[in-house]
Amino acid sequence: MKIAIIGTGNVGGALATKWAKKGHEIYLGVRDVNNFKGKELLANPNTQVLTIENAVATSEIILISTPATSAIDVAKSLGNTSGKIIIDTMNIVMGRGPEGYKNTTVAILDNTETNDVVKCFNTTGFNNMQNPDYNGTAIDVFVAGDSVKGKEIAIQLAKDAGFAECYNIGGNDKFELMEQFAWFWINLAMFQGQGRDIAFKLLKR
Ligand SMILES: NC(=O)c1ccc[n+]([C@@H]2O[C@H](COP(=O)([O-])OP(=O)(O)OC[C@H]3O[C@@H](n4cnc5c(N)ncnc54)[C@H](OP(=O)(O)O)[C@@H]3O)[C@@H](O)[C@H]2O)c1
Repeated sequence: MKIAIIGTGNVGGALATKWAKKGHEIYLGVRDVNNFKGKELLANPNTQVLTIENAVATSEIILISTPATSAIDVAKSLGNTSGKIIIDTMNIVMGRGPEGYKNTTVAILDNTETNDVVKCFNTTGFNNMQNPDYNGTAIDVFVAGDSVKGKEIAIQLAKDAGFAECYNIGGNDKFELMEQFAWFWINLAMFQGQGRDIAFKLLKR
């Protein structure tokens, strides 16, 4: 798949690396092609850097992994997103997010042409995206959104990144729940002293 990565820091960099090595075509979409976080990603296979608008125009899938406070500006900077799928990884942390919104994904939906916007990869740390393996067991991630094709693609890309499963949490009404679940991980990792090497897995019998 052709994937634009908007936000080439911790999260965008980790997923771009996994997907590039899996054979996807990666277009890093940045504000300044000569000066951006994640320049080392250009050493990955199948990876190029473009302006944000050109990366979006070239791709079928758009990953947004910028700070939540920039969600509206970033959504408006994408250019024409008709027919494209957007995967939002962002979280409003400590109340810092797009003004007037309770979650970042609705802010993207309201400021782009596409309705195929899903939330995924936001519920775990970037270190778990770099390495989802815990002693031989791969961890899980989760996806929410009304877009059926958006969820299908996110689930495929989660598996391509090495996650065991990507569970469907529901529709657009679950975006906030996804951010709260991310906050649950952040609370355990950062504030309750468990550290970043923790992850969730759904057990069944
Ligand atoms: N860190 C985690 O473990 C983690 C886990 C799950 C979800 N998240 C969420 O994922 C998002 C990204 O986190 P991160 O840790 O990857 O952040 P990060 O390392 O600070 O990277 C942020 C990226 O966003 C870009 N950016 C900032 N403002 C922008 C704008 N207005 N337009 C275009 N690009 C812009 C930056 O580009 P420049 O180089 O041009 O500044 C940089 O590439 C956040 O919303 C966070 O809540 C983080």
